[in-house]
Amino acid sequence: MAQHSGKAIYLKNYPAGMPTEALFELRAAETPAPGPGEMLCRTVWMSVDPYMRGRMRPDVKSYIPPFSLDRPLEGGAVSQVMESNIEGYQPGDYVVDYTGGWKEYYLSRGEQTHKVDPNLAPLSAYLGVLGMPGMTAWAGITQILKPKEGETLFVSGAAGAVGSVVCQLGKIKGCRVIASAGSKAKCDWLVNEAGVDVALNYKDYKNAAELTKALAEAAPKDVDCYFENVGGMHLEAALHCIALGGRIALCGMISMYNLTEPEPGPSNLINLVARGALMRGFIVSEYMAKAMEFAAEVAPLLAQGKIKFQESVYEGLDKAPEAFIGLFKGENFGKAVVRVGPDRI
Ligand SMILES: NC(=O)c1ccc[n+]([C@@H]2O[C@H](COP(=O)([O-])OP(=O)(O)OC[C@H]3O[C@@H](n4cnc5c(N)ncnc54)[C@H](OP(=O)(O)O)[C@@H]3O)[C@@H](O)[C@H]2O)c1
Repeated sequence: MAQHSGKAIYLKNYPAGMPTEALFELRAAETPAPGPGEMLCRTVWMSVDPYMRGRMRPDVKSYIPPFSLDRPLEGGAVSQVMESNIEGYQPGDYVVDYTGGWKEYYLSRGEQTHKVDPNLAPLSAYLGVLGMPGMTAWAGITQILKPKEGETLFVSGAAGAVGSVVCQLGKIKGCRVIASAGSKAKCDWLVNEAGVDVALNYKDYKNAAELTKALAEAAPKDVDCYFENVGGMHLEAALHCIALGGRIALCGMISMYNLTEPEPGPSNLINLVARGALMRGFIVSEYMAKAMEFAAEVAPLLAQGKIKFQESVYEGLDKAPEAFIGLFKGENFGKAVVRVGPDRI
């Protein structure tokens, strides 16, 4: 078979501070015919995720290497197999592939790939509630926080891809859930659709002291579990309100990803000592061996309508930089996904 002509997005330079669209370039890209042990895939949906900003910092040691400026960017995608020289993959199969993003066609060796069922859920859901963000939420809840019925769970970044699943798993496990998000519309969705008990619009609070006061009022029995997505004043407020024996799962700190100067740490870390509380960071890949357990718990909840999700859909590969930058401006509601090609051809 001949090579495939398509497009792919490159990063021209690493950003300093908030990324801009000028840093990205859409270029023509040729994908050769698959060789032995390879398959040709066309990207249907691609994910934009906050961790990608970390891959744009070549000077920072991380669990994942920085993006190269000489190759197309990569990231999670739902793709369709077009030609396959890999046993077990047939043309027409849909796969989630962790390199398929930011391009229209690519060769996969099937190494970071698994098949998905297009009849079980919308394809894009495999990048959100049934994908890496959903698994992250599930891992933080079930493996670190382990909330008990009647406990109070505080969630920052609560209307996002990870946070919205955390909130709903918390409710299912019988917690009082206090959510924080950055707009009235997001807070309304959290209360009316996700079923949280209190939603705080953090933009109503000028500083950590104000947010702390609001959180303390919402959590009169203190915060047993805090799921951290944001950092900064959210962590300070959570540390102030953390209960005796409380648990904090550090999933991410998006408020810091575009800072050019480091932010001072929280002033009240000592509360972990006095309250015998645990604070633990994690990366979802640590728990990948439990992916079947996650799917077995969350897929039925989704099918039964017990977990709801929102998506911000961007149409076309050329919109991927805008979708990515929107993550840091609160422009997405739920999971941000980019439609690169039609579901079926
Ligand atoms: N540890 C892991 O393995 C892992 C895996 C996936 C994600 N994460 C982390 O989990 C967090 C959420 O990721 P996600 O994929 O679910 O993204 P997301 O929440 O869907 O999108 C990012 C959201 O963050 C909020 N935000 C952006 N800048 C902010 C700021 N300065 N202060 C407060 N909120 C801000 C915005 O919502 P508002 O409108 O509410 O501001 C925005 O919509 C991130 O920190 C990410 O790095 C970690």
